[in-house]
Amino acid sequence: MQDVQTLIQKDRIPQHVAIIMDGNGRWAKQHGLQRMFGHKQGVQTVHNITTAAAELGIRYLTLYAFSTENWNRPQEEVDALMALLVDTIRKETPTLMENNVRLMTIGDLNRLPELTRQKFVECLEQTSHNTGLNLVLALSYSSRWEITNAFKRAIDDAQKGLLTADDIDDVKVSAYMTTAGIPDPDLLIRTSGEYRISNFLLWQLAYSELYFTNCLWPDFTVDEFYAAIVDYQHRERRFGKTSEQVSKI
Ligand code: FPP
Repeated sequence: MQDVQTLIQKDRIPQHVAIIMDGNGRWAKQHGLQRMFGHKQGVQTVHNITTAAAELGIRYLTLYAFSTENWNRPQEEVDALMALLVDTIRKETPTLMENNVRLMTIGDLNRLPELTRQKFVECLEQTSHNTGLNLVLALSYSSRWEITNAFKRAIDDAQKGLLTADDIDDVKVSAYMTTAGIPDPDLLIRTSGEYRISNFLLWQLAYSELYFTNCLWPDFTVDEFYAAIVDYQHRERRFGKTSEQVSKI
């Protein structure tokens, strides 16, 4: 069988790939392990996919690491996930530096435990001058939180006389999102056979190509990632236009 990596067209690499990393718990169950082992194995996949994305020249990789709704999981799992995030940041920061990767975050960082928040802020500062891949972690993030927050900030600005209804268009709305300055995802991948968006980047995914795979996140290999990119490269992105219109571009 042909090596899937060779099928990737180097001149059509998506600029921004977003991933809903799902299935850690089911992977652990399949292996007769506790859920946290699934999350730990998931970190290894994060490492592999981030490295592959940087090598391909993808500009932004956004990973849904912890949703607003994940705060409702059993306290023991929430605490263990926070500890895992801190541990991962501590261990992986040298790799991010070596690979010229800049860490970014979206979400309500104020809800994170102080130690976790501090670790992220340190890593954000340390990697802020890196010019390769931008690794965007969605932490305590949900679209409805983000959109609600955007409304509040816009009304605040209007009350200060900084914004009027006439100023508002889709570019302005984007600027109020936590993703301000980040291009919309070209491709969204979701693992584990679920066909949902789960409150992730609802505004930003308007024209993204969607790719679903049954593979559980800890089993998601670099070759599976390449296969998603190849699939994306065979899609025709029309942005509401006709096929004839876009083929002229
Ligand atoms: C979904 O699996 C995964 C999560 C809620 C957490 C994702 C976290 C990691 C991969 C580890 C830390 C990440 C980084 C970026 C360092 P699930 O628990 O919902 O799985 P299930 O649906 O099978 O129960």
